Amino acid sequence: MKTLVITGASKGIGFATAKKFCDAGYRVINFSRSTPPDERIESHATDLSDPEVESRITAILDEHVEPGEICLVHNSASMLNDTVKSAGAAEFVQVLRVNIVAPQILNRCLIDKMQPDSSIIYLGSTLSEKAVANTFSYVTSKHAVVGMMRATCQDLSGTGIHTSCICPGFTNTEMLRTHVGDNEEVLKSIASLSTFGRLIEPEEIAGAIYYAAQSPVINGAVIHANLGQIES
Ligand SMILES: NC(=O)c1ccc[n+]([C@@H]2O[C@H](COP(=O)([O-])OP(=O)(O)OC[C@H]3O[C@@H](n4cnc5c(N)ncnc54)[C@H](OP(=O)(O)O)[C@@H]3O)[C@@H](O)[C@H]2O)c1
Repeated sequence: MKTLVITGASKGIGFATAKKFCDAGYRVINFSRSTPPDERIESHATDLSDPEVESRITAILDEHVEPGEICLVHNSASMLNDTVKSAGAAEFVQVLRVNIVAPQILNRCLIDKMQPDSSIIYLGSTLSEKAVANTFSYVTSKHAVVGMMRATCQDLSGTGIHTSCICPGFTNTEMLRTHVGDNEEVLKSIASLSTFGRLIEPEEIAGAIYYAAQSPVINGAVIHANLGQIES
């Protein structure tokens, strides 16, 4: 049986992705702090910002994942409202632990078990390639995610494992709502920034992730999934 290992499937894009892979017959294993509302998902309550998380993840994956066709989706992310002036070392490290370090812990645990046609899918953002104000640590980490994906592609040459980075635009999830203070007016104005005049639904990004996972030809690629952003 094919296996999906994913982070952050408790809600939003991660939950939509986990459901899609379950529907396609995958066994799905998740790491997040809260539990996804779908009992088909095997979930291990884990705080990826915990400095001790490596031993926990290693033990769980050693015990629960056999070698085979594995899709690994790095979806969890932490986002703060911070700036280059305000970001303190402790908060900065915490964001990097979730967004950058945890993916590499999972990579190291799983790559030797990944047989040809396996895949590693990173979640970037529109903010992987540009910046906006007040999102300093998140922007920094999302740029790094693209570097990780490109390095993954080069380092795994000849293994039959493919990788890509899906970069969503404004998607209707808790992360976006929290970031804008759940303000409906702000959400409307954000929606108007896409050529479709609406927010993206998590299921649409899940579809892009699934497609990338099934497509070895998509390797080393940054894929923009943003409904077409209106350029100013
Ligand atoms: N929504 C957007 O507009 C947007 C745009 C561009 C990119 N993205 C990217 O898409 C991905 C999914 O975001 P989303 O919008 O679906 O966000 P979301 O609904 O807020 O979900 C975030 C997920 O990350 C997990 N997570 C956060 N902190 C964690 C921690 N310390 N340890 C373990 N898991 C943690 C959460 O699980 P728990 O809270 O249960 O731990 C949750 O399942 C992220 O990589 C995000 O950067 C989103």
